[in-house]
Amino acid sequence: MTIQPRSRSNSGSSDDSNAAFPSFEALAPTREFTTTPLTAENRVVVKGIPDVRLKVDAGPGCGGIAWLSGEVMSRYLAYRHRLEPHHLVGKTIVELGSGTGLVGIATAMLEPTAEVWATDQDCLVDLMQANADLNLLPVGSNLHIGELSWGEPITHVPAAADVVLAADCVYFEPAFPLLVQTLCDLAPVGKDTEILFAWKKRRKRFWAMLKKHFDWEVVMDDEPGAREVYTREGINLLRLHRRR
Ligand SMILES: C[S@@+](CC[C@H](N)C(=O)[O-])C[C@H]1O[C@@H](n2cnc3c(N)ncnc32)[C@H](O)[C@@H]1O
Repeated sequence: MTIQPRSRSNSGSSDDSNAAFPSFEALAPTREFTTTPLTAENRVVVKGIPDVRLKVDAGPGCGGIAWLSGEVMSRYLAYRHRLEPHHLVGKTIVELGSGTGLVGIATAMLEPTAEVWATDQDCLVDLMQANADLNLLPVGSNLHIGELSWGEPITHVPAAADVVLAADCVYFEPAFPLLVQTLCDLAPVGKDTEILFAWKKRRKRFWAMLKKHFDWEVVMDDEPGAREVYTREGINLLRLHRRR
């Protein structure tokens, strides 16, 4: 089954950065959905934790379905956790543009001592919370669901995270400076914040903005063979470092 996000009526062409809303046509998966479709729920297999159960809902936009970048990041975190079980112990972790909540949920399941914030725009908070509940990570667990609109002051989420996660957040040009601002806010100069950034090759202009504040490197220590598979889908996994 291929799940197609509902498009906005005024979305225009996928390259029209002046459109009032992002166009989701350019984002619609061209592959079969990689998770196992159930009636209204999908399961994402991440080695080391129970399958992540996800309700999807294309109503709130592209974040309402799970994208391959999020699966790639979840599986990388799980692989790293197997190699270095202490890596995330006690960490404060913030996921940006979480959508269904997949990466945040997987991370909270992997490391119960970490405090994980899965964040997105207000319209996705209910879906993220529903998925947190579905995976037995209700309010009061180590997974916190919150609204965080890029570029806005960070109020509901810890301002200085140890780890920041962002999967498939580069697609709508007017949001690029907002995303860079939020990355800067969460990773202040002088703090050694780890930022993992999975992105699908779409827009190049973002990188010119990002490089004023961050350097980056390709994550090369993923599970053997994994990188070859996801780069064929146009996905890359990077680690960003705040410039001094
Ligand atoms: C392509 S989806 C990726 C969702 C999820 N990370 C995944 O990999 O499945 C992009 C996400 O970025 C979020 N997003 C876009 N603009 C945003 C903004 N200005 N503030 C916060 N989140 C935003 C969307 O709501 C959406 O959930």
